Formats: sequence, structure tokens, C-alpha cells
Amino acid sequence: MNISSKWESPSNIALVKYWGKMGIQLPANPSISFTLNEAKTITKVSLEEKTTKDDFEILVKYDSKEIPEFEGKIIQFLNRTAHLFTFTKQFKIVINTVNTFPHSSGIASSASGMSALALCLCSIEEHVEGNKTLDFYRKASVAARLGSGSACRSLYGGLVSWGAHKDYVGSSDEFATQLSEKEVFSGFYGFKDMILLVDEGKKLVSSTLGHSLLNNHPFASARYEEAGKNMSLMKKALKEGDLGLFTHIVESEAMMLHALMMTSNPYFVLMRPNTLAIIEKVWDFRKQTGLRPVVTLDAGANVHVLFPQEEQDAIFQFAGEHLLQYCQENKYICSSIGNGPKQL
Ligand code: DP6
Repeated sequence: MNISSKWESPSNIALVKYWGKMGIQLPANPSISFTLNEAKTITKVSLEEKTTKDDFEILVKYDSKEIPEFEGKIIQFLNRTAHLFTFTKQFKIVINTVNTFPHSSGIASSASGMSALALCLCSIEEHVEGNKTLDFYRKASVAARLGSGSACRSLYGGLVSWGAHKDYVGSSDEFATQLSEKEVFSGFYGFKDMILLVDEGKKLVSSTLGHSLLNNHPFASARYEEAGKNMSLMKKALKEGDLGLFTHIVESEAMMLHALMMTSNPYFVLMRPNTLAIIEKVWDFRKQTGLRPVVTLDAGANVHVLFPQEEQDAIFQFAGEHLLQYCQENKYICSSIGNGPKQL
């Protein structure tokens, strides 16, 4: 038997954050992200004859080395997606995966990893069934979401939203949709993301725990309402190329995410002193120069600095002189807005 599929899929950075979920991997509020160009996962899935009677038989490798510790998450994913893929119980599934970013960089690999895996399974399903899936990327987005919520946004390039919202036509809690070029001021497609690696360690709070903290959170309903409003404002900012409004929403979303963590039960402070130092330097620089670097954060200590392409030289120089000293071993990743996954 020689059935296999190989895809590379990127990570994404949320502008309006998904934080809190319901049911089986449905978002408590809508979110929107930039798809990145760097920070990708490359995954190959091959089918082999099954040797056991187990529901699922899998072998997971990272860069050709077996990693049994990933198996639990993959089995959970295969269980959740069994209704989408007819073949996963019939064969042994061999998964070989590798990230283009350092393994320990503190960059979450679930978005790129789960989207790449979902794409491989969709391609193999087409092969096994012998017909084309009607909406291939939509199916892959549904499947990726069942592995990791934010992964469903990595199926498309540019700007991608996920979660039903009245201002986003065709939006759904089940899958992500891409904003059309008509909806986005062209300058945003040149945006860069400089990821400053403040803390390369393992995440302090897993995303599963993080999302669950919203279940009994005193500010949860206010948060969901704000996220909805920010989605409306973001739509306007993107269409009109309003960088002031864009900056305000992106940064207030990052602050709100961390404020929610600080006011959860139990509470967590995920920023490190260097996170704050970078944010203050960026804000000072913006005030002094009138240039437009924008700060955002994931559920961790690393800082993403987003900026328009034409400001690249000035911002690289500023980062080299004033920001990299706050990173672990001066490390950073520079990415642009990307076009989405690619079959290899
Ligand atoms: C803060 O997608 O990693 O990055 O669905 O449990 O896998 P799971 O969570 P995950 O959460 C991402 C949270 C975030 C914000 C975002 O990407 O929207």
C-alpha cells in the first residue's frame, strides 16, 4: 500500500482573541487572525496495514523520531473526527511532523500542527473515497477545529475569522472563513510580525486549562460582549485602513486576554518583566516617531510586534537597539502575512 499525503500549514496570530469555549470545540466568542508566513508545520501522513484490533493504531514521529507523548492528543483528535474520515479506523496511521520554528521557542504549534494534520487526512479521504470533497478547505477547517480551536483559522491566507458574527457574512462557529480582498485595505497584506521570544519554556497554562477558566469567570459575559464589539470595529478598521482603530483593538484585546488570566480562579500572570519592558519601549517609540508598531500577546510571555511593511527598516533598527536585549539569547522570529497552507 502506498497511500500518503504531505502538507505544510502555518501558524496564525489572533487580533481579536478566542478565549473560552463551549460544547465540542466551539468558540465562546468570534475571533480574527492574520495567517503567518513563517512558523509552519510540515506533516506527512501515510497509511499502513493495521496490526492490532485497537480502534485506532497510530505511530507519531517528530522529525523521524518517535514521540509517544503526542499520541494521546492525536487519538483524541481521531476520535473527534471519526465521522469525517472513514478510513482512520481501518488503517495504521503513521504521522511524521516537523516545525520550521524552534521546538522550544514557546510558539504554540497546535494551530499549524492540527491544520497540517487535518489537511493530510482530507487529502487521503479523497484518495480512499475516490471523489473530490465538495468544499475541501471548509472540511479541513472543521476537522482542524476539533484538534485545536485556533487551528481552524490556519486553513486560509491573509485575514481569517472564526465564529458566527452578524457583520461577517457566512461566518460560523464550526469553521473559519477568509476575508475577501474587498474587505481589507491593501496595506494590511504587507504587515509583518516580529515575534520576540521572551520565554522559550513550556507554556505555564495549557490552552485547555486557560479556556476552561472562563467557565466560572466573573467577567466572562462582559468579555464575550466586548469581543463581539471588537469584531465589528475590526471589520471597519480593516476595510478603511484605519491604523489607529486597528492598533487600539489589537492591543486592548491582548491586555484583556491577560487581564482575564489575572482575574481567573486560580489566577495567573503570564507576562514576565521583560514582556512589560518590551511593551513600554514599543509604546514610547510609537509616541516619539509616529510610526505604527502594534503589540499583541498570546497566552504567554512572548511579544508579537505587528507593523506595516514600509516601516520595516526603522523597526528592525529599533528592535536591534532596544528590544532584543529582553529576549532569551536575543532570539526572535520575523514573519509576514502568509498565503495559507500548501500541499507538498
Ligand atoms: C490565546 O486554539 O490553542 O492563542 O482550542 O484548546 O487548542 P484549544 O486552544 P488554542 O487557543 C488559542 C488561544 C489564543 C487566542 C487565539 O489564538 O485566538
